[in-house]
Amino acid sequence: MTDKYVAAIDQGTTSSRCIVFDQQGGIVAVDQQEHRQIFPKPGWVEHDASEIWTKVQAVVGGALERAGLRADQLSAIGITNQRETTVLWDRATGEPVHNAIVWQDTRTSALCTELGGEVGQDRFRDRTGLPLASYFAGPKVAWLLDNVPGLRERAERGEIAFGTMDSWLIWNLTGGTDGGRHVTDVTNASRTMLMNLETLEWDQSVLDAMNVPAAVLPEIRSSSEVYGTAVGQLAGVPVASALGDQQAAVFGQTCYGVGEAKNTYGTGSFLLLNTGGRPVPSKHGLVTTVGYRLGDEAPVYCLEGSIAITGALVQWFRDQLGIINDASEIEALAASVEDNGGAYIVPAFSGLFAPYWRSDARGVIAGLTRYVTKAHLARAVLEATSWQTREVVDAMYQDSGVEITTLKVDGGMTANSLLMQHQADVLGVPVIRPVVAETTCLGAAYAAGLATGVWSGLDELRAHWKRDAEWTPSMSAEERDREFANWHKAVERSFGWEK
Ligand code: G3P
Repeated sequence: MTDKYVAAIDQGTTSSRCIVFDQQGGIVAVDQQEHRQIFPKPGWVEHDASEIWTKVQAVVGGALERAGLRADQLSAIGITNQRETTVLWDRATGEPVHNAIVWQDTRTSALCTELGGEVGQDRFRDRTGLPLASYFAGPKVAWLLDNVPGLRERAERGEIAFGTMDSWLIWNLTGGTDGGRHVTDVTNASRTMLMNLETLEWDQSVLDAMNVPAAVLPEIRSSSEVYGTAVGQLAGVPVASALGDQQAAVFGQTCYGVGEAKNTYGTGSFLLLNTGGRPVPSKHGLVTTVGYRLGDEAPVYCLEGSIAITGALVQWFRDQLGIINDASEIEALAASVEDNGGAYIVPAFSGLFAPYWRSDARGVIAGLTRYVTKAHLARAVLEATSWQTREVVDAMYQDSGVEITTLKVDGGMTANSLLMQHQADVLGVPVIRPVVAETTCLGAAYAAGLATGVWSGLDELRAHWKRDAEWTPSMSAEERDREFANWHKAVERSFGWEK
């Protein structure tokens, strides 16, 4: 039997990577390249979508070369991506008409307030599962149509295409101006605030309210099917999956049963709980989202706690404060002291997402005395991640009644044992990391391999999952409650800075 290989492209917020997997779900080769972060004004974050496409092609070539494979040895390629980041391009030239507006960008805050009107943040929640917040794609599309001269008229004439990064990459991979497929998958579409969660189609009432013409929209497809065949360097390879990166991590962590949850620690952290075949509405600040849909099968829904800033706080500590030179140094610095010395950092750099959804929040450092050193602050940086996670776990319980008994984790920050121990301590449940912690790419590869017959079904994928490390809680309930109360005081101080 010849080995089969599946590649996945993960187009993330700070970098793009390509990983080639073998049939056991093992990593054969990886390549990765960063792209520019463009900050035109405070709160604005943009990417150059053409640069991203160039980097994606480079990492695909790099990963194949490192794997020692030719494109025709790949059974399929899958896509996973930073979600919500919005690009509009000219269908005739294939050129983006403006930089992509990144999910972290807050320029649409005022537009969201205006759209909410008297109803407020929850105006579209029953249809889309989402609160009105600058995070999601729909208002970003509206902003571009209103702010790029002449764009709305061109869009209405059908000359302009909208996509999140999955659409942009699939269109380019499958031929671009020469027959490229303009599609997206249900998970990415569920982050636009333009898709109806029940029908899994674009919702005309929301399109009308946001003034987004249907002519710009991609076709919504499942997360696991052949959308088209690649041209160029991957000529002939089926493009066979697309999932937003957090949903891909759910799939790669094999959270296929109701009540299974994972947390991915990247730029931000995103905790998703599988709630099964029906969307569960949130009353406690979570979002309802599509987890995945395999071909014609019924969709699987998730509740999500989206935390905007976790790993990015470590980067800020390194780049803006210069206290460490490398992100990995934070663990030793934090471990050099017993505790946080009374200091708490709330990283509300893009407002606060779940469970608060406060665009008026800004970052605070609270509890300072002259006793506090950079080592205490390093601890506070790490603890900000675990406390924010605790808040979304509490909201999950309130919304779903499901008590998380273990938490599967993945992403770069899970290399930090001190943080993972603190996470287990503040949740009071074990935290478990799998051997293949690249679950985002793995999930996209799994979905692409299922669509092309590389794997037989979910049971086969589940059998690949292997435990690498586990942290069990050891903090006393008294200490946990005291610290959590202090964290909340700090959070309250982050509110009310900007309207
Ligand atoms: O919703 C935003 C999320 O998809 C970004 O993920 O890992 O690229 O920061 P990441």
